[in-house]
Amino acid sequence: MAVADAPRDGWTSRRAFLLAAIGSAVGLGNLWRFSTEAGTNGGSAFVLFYIFCVILIGLPVLLAETLIGRHGQSSAPESVRKLAAESNASKHWGLIATLGVIGSLLILSFYCVVGGWVLYYIWVFLGDMIQTGLAGGAFQGRPAADIEGLLPNLFGDARLMVGCGLAFLAITAFFVARGVSSGIEWVASWLMPAFFVLLVLITIYGLATGAASEAISFLFTFDFSKLTPEVMLAAVGQAFFSLSLGMASMITYGAYVGRDVNLAQTSGIIGGADTMVALIGGLCIFPIVFAAGLSVSAGPGLMFQSLPVAFQAMPFGSLIGFAFFIMVAFAALTSSVSLLEPSTAWLKQLTGLNRLATTLILCGVAGVLGTLAALSFNELADFRPLAFIPIFAESNFFDALDGVTAKIMMPLGAILVCIFVGWIADARLIDEENGLDGALHQFWRFLVRFLCPIVLGVIMVTGLMS
Ligand code: PHE
Repeated sequence: MAVADAPRDGWTSRRAFLLAAIGSAVGLGNLWRFSTEAGTNGGSAFVLFYIFCVILIGLPVLLAETLIGRHGQSSAPESVRKLAAESNASKHWGLIATLGVIGSLLILSFYCVVGGWVLYYIWVFLGDMIQTGLAGGAFQGRPAADIEGLLPNLFGDARLMVGCGLAFLAITAFFVARGVSSGIEWVASWLMPAFFVLLVLITIYGLATGAASEAISFLFTFDFSKLTPEVMLAAVGQAFFSLSLGMASMITYGAYVGRDVNLAQTSGIIGGADTMVALIGGLCIFPIVFAAGLSVSAGPGLMFQSLPVAFQAMPFGSLIGFAFFIMVAFAALTSSVSLLEPSTAWLKQLTGLNRLATTLILCGVAGVLGTLAALSFNELADFRPLAFIPIFAESNFFDALDGVTAKIMMPLGAILVCIFVGWIADARLIDEENGLDGALHQFWRFLVRFLCPIVLGVIMVTGLMS
């Protein structure tokens, strides 16, 4: 199925788009960020509100974003501008996607730091495999504290941290520079399926041998009293982060889709797959956390400290650990390319430079910001860039990048997308192609026009003020 009406490089089939979009959605957000946020925000209340956000806010916005992209067939800001012009609205609406383009570059810069941790763990497990052979568990004979100490040790080594982060950025740039069909699509179609299989296997092991019932009750027993405005904002932010929304990524990917694809259906599949992986990720990580007596609110290191402990007890642990972190790296890579692609497509269009040059320039920017983010764990640990904003007063550079993008830029971007699609854009231009009919279509329009922007606005304001 060729993308006949896309004038440029695009997905070669519906399956390729699906895998690339799922690849964008499924990433460190599902494993690393989901477990960190669920752990620090009290578990079940966060998880249930997160699911609510995905269904009633995330999916409608995902459909709205991919529709804008497919209609515009261009870089995200240009796609919005085109639709605005055809709807006799101001071309300045393009700025909502420019905001997303900037946001995606900001996310990329701290995302690569975490991607760097993954590379480091691959290296460590590889070393262990060579040293101790395959048969036994990982890190044989070493105390658990040693294994949990791997990450703090890495944090303490500024050069290694920066080096790993930049290495991950370089790999991302390599695939983006190759282009859509031969770079991004290739990564997604081969690596995503392998990732799913391995995740499920490790989860079954974790549930069978870890503290399964404690983990399940932590994640799924609903306790209304824990649902504070702050937890709600964290959950909305996580839903957007995980679905790659509000950041021009899905508008950009939508532009490479042919008109024959049913976007409502694909949005549902993308959202379902992403949420499933997040929940399976939780069921994979938390039983081990509880069984090993780790603190659920340990913060960003949770996944990196809990899983290796489990790999120690497993037969073939170092091989499984090695394979697992390779898969996480792949999942992260299919997301990081979607964080670099929006700005690449945009700058390329703006300057007329070729793909390689654009990618290199943007990598330079992300590299500088990423270096500062990596140094937040050591040399710059006391630097508080947003000390003047109460909820970010305690955040280092890394946390500030994450907080501002997930708690302000993503919800704001999504509100603006809803207003644009719900109220400004000419419905006739996009509605006929959205794949929904009858009552479902009316319901989608209601969500995009009223429920999403209002709920998002309220959560954002109350969450930021609390
Ligand atoms: N959704 C990705 C993840 O979960 C991260 C991402 C955010 C990608 C925003 C693109 C845009 O890892």
